[in-house]
Amino acid sequence: MASGHPELVDDISREINDFGPITFARFMELALYHPQFGYYMRGPEDGSERIGWQGDYYTSSDVHSILGQALARQAEQIDRLLGQPDPFTLVEMGPGKGLLAKHILSACRIGSESFRRRLRYILIDRSPAMRKIQRHNLSQWLTEPDMMTWADQLDALASAGVTGMVFSNELLDAFPIHRIHMTSEGLQEVHVDYQDGQFVDCLKPLSTAALDTHLRELHHNWPEGYRTEVNLQALDWMKQVARCLNRGVVLTIDYGHTAHDFYRPERKTGTFLCYSKHSTNETPYQCVGAQDMTAHVDFSSLAAVGETHGLQITGFTNQLSFLMGLGVEAMMAELQPESPEFQSAIHLLKPNGMGGIFKVLVQHKGIEAPNLDGLKYKPFMESALTGLESKVGA
Ligand SMILES: C[S@@+](CC[C@H](N)C(=O)[O-])C[C@H]1O[C@@H](n2cnc3c(N)ncnc32)[C@H](O)[C@@H]1O
Repeated sequence: MASGHPELVDDISREINDFGPITFARFMELALYHPQFGYYMRGPEDGSERIGWQGDYYTSSDVHSILGQALARQAEQIDRLLGQPDPFTLVEMGPGKGLLAKHILSACRIGSESFRRRLRYILIDRSPAMRKIQRHNLSQWLTEPDMMTWADQLDALASAGVTGMVFSNELLDAFPIHRIHMTSEGLQEVHVDYQDGQFVDCLKPLSTAALDTHLRELHHNWPEGYRTEVNLQALDWMKQVARCLNRGVVLTIDYGHTAHDFYRPERKTGTFLCYSKHSTNETPYQCVGAQDMTAHVDFSSLAAVGETHGLQITGFTNQLSFLMGLGVEAMMAELQPESPEFQSAIHLLKPNGMGGIFKVLVQHKGIEAPNLDGLKYKPFMESALTGLESKVGA
């Protein structure tokens, strides 16, 4: 029998029995976001944490507050460039436990009084269980009237429009992805069937015209047996962000690559991985709903869709360079050298670790191309996104 959350396995297998094999994207959607039994949707009352040292994986904000401090500085600079609007809105999407928000707001306490007074912080997370954890971790800011609010979805902000900064850390890697497989007859899409009590892969034609169009625009030359992913939901999300931002900056942090690097022929098995208790595996049909699933982000396609919908590319860099530009050396100087805290901060900077793997895409709208401190150092990525092989404007 397939292992995992029993009611979730029942629901997914029933859907397959009733309607036939489902796309891998649908399987991942249900495994992570089934309204009752999905990995992110069940509360911590079921006994297991998701994010953090007691959970399945950790993010930058579990490690140290320097990313939050840097984002606060970046937001203050953007506020000045926008002419100090009232309100200046920070929209954080997919805040998880809310720790990054906590670090940003703590850092803002020592910033300018005017910025603090005009700041409105909006959190958007599709998981009610995560929203509950966020409220708990951010309780000290809930007493300040209207300062912090939750929105159900990004589109809810579109009519009023946002002036400020829309940002996310490790949001897009948690979106369900379509898995693609090159066969001798061309590209097929991985679907999920249920046979003899087990979920199994089966290959079928591409499920949507949008996927077909996107794959054509990648101009790939993949060998037979090549397997990769396409994150269509991230491209739709980018369009929503473009719709809801009036004036300001979009800052997207995630592990990922340019399309050229992501879809190079040698990357034969894609980037999809499952995380459980801080180890990785490639078996999504085990522990269904009890482990995280993730895939890297194709930043070129994201930037290209953004451009088509009114978001100009400001720059593209990695987490190490972003943090350096925003004064991480001075932040580190305040820590005791070799202390555990110092070592944690170093962890976020390592070029072969989180400092290099995590990328930062910055886009702007309604302002002149801003000279942002977070983009001071982008040595090897200056033109990475503008030399796109992929021009996805759908
Ligand atoms: C990997 S966690 C990110 C954690 C957090 N940003 C951090 O830095 O620790 C992904 C979060 O995104 C949320 N999420 C996933 N899809 C979403 C969507 N479409 N809209 C809003 N939140 C979403 C999940 O519920 C989860 O809280």
